[in-house]
Amino acid sequence: MKKIFVIDDSIPTLKLIHKILKNSGYKVFEFSDASTGLSQIKSESPDLIIMDIEMPKMNGLEALQLMKRIDPNLKVVIMTAYADLEKIHYFLENGVMDFIAKPFSLNEINTVLAHVFSEEDEGASQELFDRRLNFVSNSPEIKACIDKALKVCNSDLPILILGENGTGKEILADFIHYNSLRKYNNMIKVNCAAIPRDLAESELFGHERGAFTGAVDTRQGKIELSNKGTLFLDEIGDLSPSLQTKLLRVLEYKKYERVGGKNTIETDFRLICASNKKLDEEVKEGNFRQDLFYRINTITLQVPPLRERKSDIEPLINHFLNQYRKKFMVTAEKISKEALEILEEYEWSGNVRELKNVVETTASLTVTDTINTSDLPRYIYDAKSKNPYTHLFESDRIIPLDQLEEAYIEFTLEKLSGNKKRTAKMLGISEKTLYNKLNKYHINP
Ligand SMILES: Nc1ncnc2c1ncn2[C@@H]1O[C@H](COP(=O)(O)OP(=O)(O)OP(=O)(O)O)[C@@H](O)[C@H]1O
Ligand SMILES: [Mg+2]
Repeated sequence: MKKIFVIDDSIPTLKLIHKILKNSGYKVFEFSDASTGLSQIKSESPDLIIMDIEMPKMNGLEALQLMKRIDPNLKVVIMTAYADLEKIHYFLENGVMDFIAKPFSLNEINTVLAHVFSEEDEGASQELFDRRLNFVSNSPEIKACIDKALKVCNSDLPILILGENGTGKEILADFIHYNSLRKYNNMIKVNCAAIPRDLAESELFGHERGAFTGAVDTRQGKIELSNKGTLFLDEIGDLSPSLQTKLLRVLEYKKYERVGGKNTIETDFRLICASNKKLDEEVKEGNFRQDLFYRINTITLQVPPLRERKSDIEPLINHFLNQYRKKFMVTAEKISKEALEILEEYEWSGNVRELKNVVETTASLTVTDTINTSDLPRYIYDAKSKNPYTHLFESDRIIPLDQLEEAYIEFTLEKLSGNKKRTAKMLGISEKTLYNKLNKYHINP
């Protein structure tokens, strides 16, 4: 019989988990604080520890470190109501097997345990693991998105992700799926803008044999394939009006028929939609059904463009560099401060996708270990140098040109230790003109 330690400061939670695990045939040990649990690891050698993070005496972060010191191979699953991106990265990188956001149903715990104890799952777990670490961000804007997403990831509420092209809507949808309890089942993706209209219905709902010319076999649609998992409808704004109606019906009744079919199929999928169109405007213009919009717009995640979250640029560059280095032999392993500054100031109209391309192209052309300014693509460099002086003009006060000239000549002279010949040369004027100006402004170097 497998032994499980459950560590949680909430007694009702302990009791509940204890009951469900006992019924599933595990031997359960309850601890309301981590240190008591720790003291019994050696004597009981549990097969798994399920632990909360926020606990008054010793928190889960400390406890995890001590546990791993006692037994580096100890299996630990964390459950918490306070998951965030940083914690997920921390725990997964520190040998936690799984990370479950509360609330979850007690049946779902069994799903997780089945996977934790299944040997064959190891390859699959590695993939799940990588996917959960694939999403990178450091900005408060994205963290707010993630916090919101994690709070609802185990519910069935539909999620709508909005944002410009390349901001990371799809990878955010992946993140939600792979952090939800549906991660052991399929995530099925449909790009509504890419399927031909006449095939779209069968693509989504499947068809029965003979339903239309060419339907030689019965075929499952994407909705059916996403049963128990997640259905990602990308560019939902491009779904045809008739399919909008059909989709609404599935969302309301959780049932549908295949094209040409009489049998009603029950379905259980979590819907995530994405769009780079402003769907509320599409509704106003009559292109998108209002009732469908209300239905899919329960939880909305707005992904801001990259130019509005510059603190994401550096972690993303490092992430893409690391990813790229794993695939190809490139020398570049970091970026210089100056080059980073240029990338941070760039507009990124193509958002993260454009940044990724730039990092990859630049990395493959750089011959040293550092990406320098001169390695950056010309168009980025040029965009920056269009007006390299903007930082001089950041004050609200407008200075008359005369005053600016006077101050600047003085500044240059001082910098060049009063050397008039060099000052004139640097300022691109003749010495004679410089003398005239010195007289005009009564500057006596
Ligand atoms: N936060 C992130 N962390 C890691 N990679 C990211 C992140 N955001 C975006 N990317 C990467 O940038 C590229 C574009 O992201 P994605 O395809 O998710 O954008 P999108 O918003 O769906 O774009 P589109 O509107 O064009 O479909 C992908 O290669 C993705 O892996
Ligand atoms: Mg996309």
